Amino acid sequence: MWHQSCYVYNIYHTTFILPTCVERLKMNSVKSLGESPDLHRIPSIYAYSINSTVSPASDLHDEIPTIDFSLLTSTDPDIRSQVIQELDIACKDWGFFRVINHGVPESLMNMVIEKSREFFDLTDDEKKEFEEKSVLDPIRYGTSFNYKKDEILYWRDFLKVIVHPEFNCPNKPFGFREVLLEYSKRTREIAKELLNGISTNLGLDPSYVEKTLKLESGLQILTVNLYPPCPQPELAIGFPPHSDHGLLTLLINNGVDGLQIKHKGKWVSVKNNTPNSFLVNTADQLQIFSNGKYPSVEHRATLNNAVTRLSVAVTNGPALDAVVEPAHKLVSEERCPPAYMQMKYKEYLEMQQGNRIVGKTCLDRVRL
Ligand code: OGA
Ligand code: NI
Repeated sequence: MWHQSCYVYNIYHTTFILPTCVERLKMNSVKSLGESPDLHRIPSIYAYSINSTVSPASDLHDEIPTIDFSLLTSTDPDIRSQVIQELDIACKDWGFFRVINHGVPESLMNMVIEKSREFFDLTDDEKKEFEEKSVLDPIRYGTSFNYKKDEILYWRDFLKVIVHPEFNCPNKPFGFREVLLEYSKRTREIAKELLNGISTNLGLDPSYVEKTLKLESGLQILTVNLYPPCPQPELAIGFPPHSDHGLLTLLINNGVDGLQIKHKGKWVSVKNNTPNSFLVNTADQLQIFSNGKYPSVEHRATLNNAVTRLSVAVTNGPALDAVVEPAHKLVSEERCPPAYMQMKYKEYLEMQQGNRIVGKTCLDRVRL
């Protein structure tokens, strides 16, 4: 249903088209495609050229900043101001950092990964019930990014669930709901605390971001990304370069590497060398709100041919009806004019999710 009516294979530079009636592949998802035993090459609709160099992981990944969350909530003002300063550098220079000592039990993080995996292990028929219909559906199961609009397909299946301000969750697998409910609450608390620190770093009241963007009813979307082994990992991509739409994204994965972030114009591989940590990245609404001081980081997910990679990304954004624009206190027409126009978060989200995803181009539409 998702895949086109014929399949194009590129074998030894010769293109074969397998007619639907002969070979109507019932494989809707990359997961089922990847599980077919005689798949040695990717269907050409997945062919993607990664034409940029990646910094050797050993070069730069050690420099990715780490924020000790427990210090952010310290009652000692010196300790707190030191870590807030580190947060400022992390957001400005990288837009990406690890968060440790965050207090979320490792068992809960493991359960989120485990239950998410169980979701993808449901039968195709069971998962079909959650197939995506429109961008703001509370539960959306799908493949690629925007299957109907993507020019080429990405080697990725996904489940997107709106977990706040209303909590939603697929009714399967057993126990998923309890795990996601608790996880959404805990990650929201962490995002809020980080945003309080960021608000301070912008020279604003600590709760300014929270109040102005109505985080109490902020939109939180939990996305599970599944990247099955790919027979030609260097010829396809899991998630193409993009930035996230919200304020801050909290990411965890099943310990398999694949995430790359763009840092000073170069791709840097992120290693999973800090157990029980969150990978946090700045997103588009923060870039707009901070008038460009904290740019959203561009990132992508690459593939391997051996093991399935699973990641869980929680985007924490403003309320859907919040109007986002550069914070008034940060701009003045003469000295520091606003660099972005105002737009409701809902409109921005629909624009980003409803189109093809190409780097940070969505932001260009609100740039003044
Ligand atoms: C995302 C994302 C990266 C990953 O879900 O927005 O960038 O490692 N995921 O899966
Ligand atoms: Ni992302």
